[in-house]
Amino acid sequence: GRHVAARISVIGTGYLGATHAACMAELGYEVLGMDVDAEKIAALASGRVPFYEPGLEELLAKHVADGRLRFTTSYSEVAEFHADVHFICVNTPQRRGEYAADLRYVDAVIDGLAPHLDQPTVIAGKSTVPAGTAARLTERVAELAPAGTAVELAWNPEFLREGYAIGDTLRPDRLVLGVASPGARTASDAGNSSRAEAVLREVYKPLTDAGVPLIVTDLATAELVKVAANAFLSTKISFINAMAEVCEAAGGDVMKLAEALAHDARIGGKFLVPGLGFGGGCLPKDIRAFMARAGELGVDQALAFLKEVDEINMRRRVRLVDLAREQCDGSFLGKRVAVWGAAFKPDSDDVRDSPALNVAASILLQGAQVTVYDPKANDNAAKLFPTLAYAESALAAARGAHVILHLTEWLEFREVDPREVGEVVSRRHIVDGRNALSAERWHEAGWTYRALGRPV
Ligand code: UGA
Repeated sequence: GRHVAARISVIGTGYLGATHAACMAELGYEVLGMDVDAEKIAALASGRVPFYEPGLEELLAKHVADGRLRFTTSYSEVAEFHADVHFICVNTPQRRGEYAADLRYVDAVIDGLAPHLDQPTVIAGKSTVPAGTAARLTERVAELAPAGTAVELAWNPEFLREGYAIGDTLRPDRLVLGVASPGARTASDAGNSSRAEAVLREVYKPLTDAGVPLIVTDLATAELVKVAANAFLSTKISFINAMAEVCEAAGGDVMKLAEALAHDARIGGKFLVPGLGFGGGCLPKDIRAFMARAGELGVDQALAFLKEVDEINMRRRVRLVDLAREQCDGSFLGKRVAVWGAAFKPDSDDVRDSPALNVAASILLQGAQVTVYDPKANDNAAKLFPTLAYAESALAAARGAHVILHLTEWLEFREVDPREVGEVVSRRHIVDGRNALSAERWHEAGWTYRALGRPV
């Protein structure tokens, strides 16, 4: 018969889970969000989002108010809710000192949830996991759940970007659905294995009706699509950053080069912006975990190039520090450096593996006085790097600086008036780590403007 999905649980309410929960409520479902972090749950339950994501707080508050979206810290409450689908949205960080992903949170969700499941239901993993994880978890669920194999596991990777999380969730480029028996639509086709696909197709019907493609695969392929996408995006960024290195050596301009490449539709201009490179909680750890998994599978050679992608990316940070030091007459000792940006990218307050903070901390260690300003990420940055100084505005950070480093391309920095900033600095030197400022405007106001991959 027809599976009507009406109740959805979302386990793990960080960037991914909180967004997913609010968007599922927006689609009309009754949603229960669960997290072990009581403080986070208290905030969400009162309609507050404990991190910065454009538009999310409004959406969340709306559905907390209309009662469609509720939160809990208890697995038994999740079980009593009798969700048609339980989405797993916990993070899978890099293991300390290793490339591999740390799956302890995903494992803990299965161990916490499955023993309560005494009715047929679906668990859909959204977390980014190494290929083979879903198959392993399927066995664990069958062991732990009182309903046994009537609890089905599917993998439904998430491709949202921070800063665009709501749009990416409600209007994604595609949906990927990994199930144990793809294409098996009826119980007689393949034992129990049709339920997960049918229920999830139903959940996403509002999106597929609007034209979003849905690709159904086996479990391993679904897991791989996600890391393959992030590997490709990382490679594209490191490719253009490698060209920046060559441009610097040859006296070329990587911005012009990228512009010319972008006209080739096969290449395209997206994710081809040269600069300080990628950071955040996803791309860096995902390519490392992908390499680690390839090694376990005996195909490490297939992904050896990702090591190079990672190294090109990390070299950009070193190069930026070198460029900054040059602008400080060869030494940071006794110099004042202003850092504009702390988040790993604009429109986010996320400072995980932030290239900007990495550069700021390294310059601090080399003897400069470093003052950081980020429109949204100052507080998160201060928790990670309490020894850096923080200012309340771009102008305040620039006061007395020998050089300004533009490291996260918030719109606000593009709108700064170079003349006004020129009045408060010690010296008019700026290094644009994101190739996002207008060199012309800064030159006109009497500044020395330097950028990665561009001639002096
Ligand atoms: C990334 C992917 O884009 C998402 O599709 C994926 O779902 C997500 O990881 C994830 O795995 O959860 P996100 O980390 O939010 O999303 O940020 P991106 O917009 O991809 O930016 C990543 C980094 O690359 C940033 O540090 C950004 O500054 C840098 N970048 C991006 C460049 O240096 N150059 C570019 O041209 C584009």
